[in-house]
Amino acid sequence: MKLHPVSHLSGTVTVPGDKSISHRCVMFGAIAKGTTEIINFLPGADCLSTIQCFRSMGILIEQNLTKVRVHGNGLFGLHAPSGILNVGNSGTTTRLLAGILAGQSFMSVLSGDQSLNSRPMERIILPLTKMGADIKSLKGNGCAPLQIAPGKLCGIEFHSPVSSAQVKSSILLAGLYADNKTIVTEPVLSRDHTERMLHSFGANIASQIHLNGTAAIEICPCSELYAQKICVPGDISSAAYFIAAALLVRDSEILIRNVGINPTRAGILDVCLRMGADITFIKKYQEQEPMADLLIRTSRLHGTTIEGAEIPTLIDEIPIIAVMAAAAEGTTVIRDAKELKVKETNRIATITAGLRSMGVDVIPTEDGMIIHGGHPLQGAFVESYLDHRIAMAFSIAGLIAEGETTINNSSCVDVSYPAFFETLRSLSSRF
Ligand code: S3P
Repeated sequence: MKLHPVSHLSGTVTVPGDKSISHRCVMFGAIAKGTTEIINFLPGADCLSTIQCFRSMGILIEQNLTKVRVHGNGLFGLHAPSGILNVGNSGTTTRLLAGILAGQSFMSVLSGDQSLNSRPMERIILPLTKMGADIKSLKGNGCAPLQIAPGKLCGIEFHSPVSSAQVKSSILLAGLYADNKTIVTEPVLSRDHTERMLHSFGANIASQIHLNGTAAIEICPCSELYAQKICVPGDISSAAYFIAAALLVRDSEILIRNVGINPTRAGILDVCLRMGADITFIKKYQEQEPMADLLIRTSRLHGTTIEGAEIPTLIDEIPIIAVMAAAAEGTTVIRDAKELKVKETNRIATITAGLRSMGVDVIPTEDGMIIHGGHPLQGAFVESYLDHRIAMAFSIAGLIAEGETTINNSSCVDVSYPAFFETLRSLSSRF
C-alpha cells in the first residue's frame, strides 16, 4: 500500500467489533447451552480462525458478515476434531482454546502460522499442567504446535507473573472443568472481558482488586453456561488509528462511533489527553461494556511517559502511540512493556525499524523505547513484518510524512481490520 500526505481528514467512522470480545462470544457460545446471537462480530482473520476451530469440533456456527449465530452444545458438547486445529495468526484463539481443550475427553492439536508457532506458550502450559492438564509443545520449544490429551483437572491458585488476559482466561476456562475453585492473580488487572462475559453466561466468577493493585479472579466449576445475545462494542484498538490520524493530520475532525471504553482497555485515551489531545466524549453509555462516541480534532501533541499499571491497558496500541510520539514535541518514554517482544512480532524491534526508516530518533530499550519527537517524518519503504498493527500504525505515519510511504505486505491488516484502508480512504480525498 502506498500513502501520501493529506491536507485534512473529516467524517464519521464506525470501527469494527472488538476482536477480544468477538473471539470470546464464539468460544463461550460454543460451550453454552442454546443459541448465542452476536451482532457487530469482527469478521477478521483471527476471529474466523476461532469460528473454524469450533466448527471442526462439531459446533454449528452461522456467520453472515457481522452477524453470527453459535449453536452451543453445552459444556461437554465438543467433539474430537478430525485434524489439527488451525489457529492461524491468533494468540487469543490458541491460549483460550487450550484452556477449554484441557478439560475435554479427546485429544487435540493446535497449530498456527510461523509467527504464532514462535510465540511463548509455556505461560499457559505451566499453569494448565499444574491443574492436571496433559499438554505439551510438540517441538519441545515451549511453542505451538500444542498437543492436548484428556486430563483430570483440579482447581489451583496461580500467581501469574505477567498481566495477560490470554493467560488469565486460559486458566479460568480450564477452571470451568476443574473439580474445585480456581484462583488467578495478576500484577495489575488485564482486560476483563472474560470475567464480564463468563458472568453473563452464568458462570460463578468473582474478581477483587487489592489495595496494592494486584487482581485476583476466582471461578468455580459449573454444570452449564447459557447462551446470550451480544452486541460487540467497536474495537478501541482499531479506533486508535483514526484517533491518531485525526490528531496528527492538520485541519481534521473525525467522529468515531460506538467505541468500547472499558477501563482495562482505554489507556490510549488517557495517554492522548496527557499529550494534549482534543478529544470530546460526545456520548457515554453502558451496554454490556462501557461505550462512547468520540470526537477527535487536530492537536499539538507533546511527549509523555507511559509505564507501570497503564501498560496492560494499551499494550496493543503502542505501535500507533509510538507514531504519535514521533510527531509530538519532546521526548516520550515507554517502559515496563517487555510484553511487546512476544506479540505478533517483537514490537520493540519492529516499531524501532519502522520509525528509523522514517528518520525518527528512537532508542529501543529492554522493556520499551525512548522517542525524540517533533521532527518531520520522511516517507519510506516500511516493512510490516506481517504484523497487522505495525501495518496500520505506519499507514497513519504515511499521512503526515514527506513524500511517499510504502507499507510492504499491508494486506495483513485483514487479521483485525479488513476494511481499514477503505475506511481511511473515506476520510480523505487522497492518500
Ligand atoms: C488479548 C490479550 C492481550 C492482547 C491481545 C488480545 C485477549 O494479549 O495483546 O491482542 O483477547 O485476551 P496478552 O494477554 O498476551 O497480553
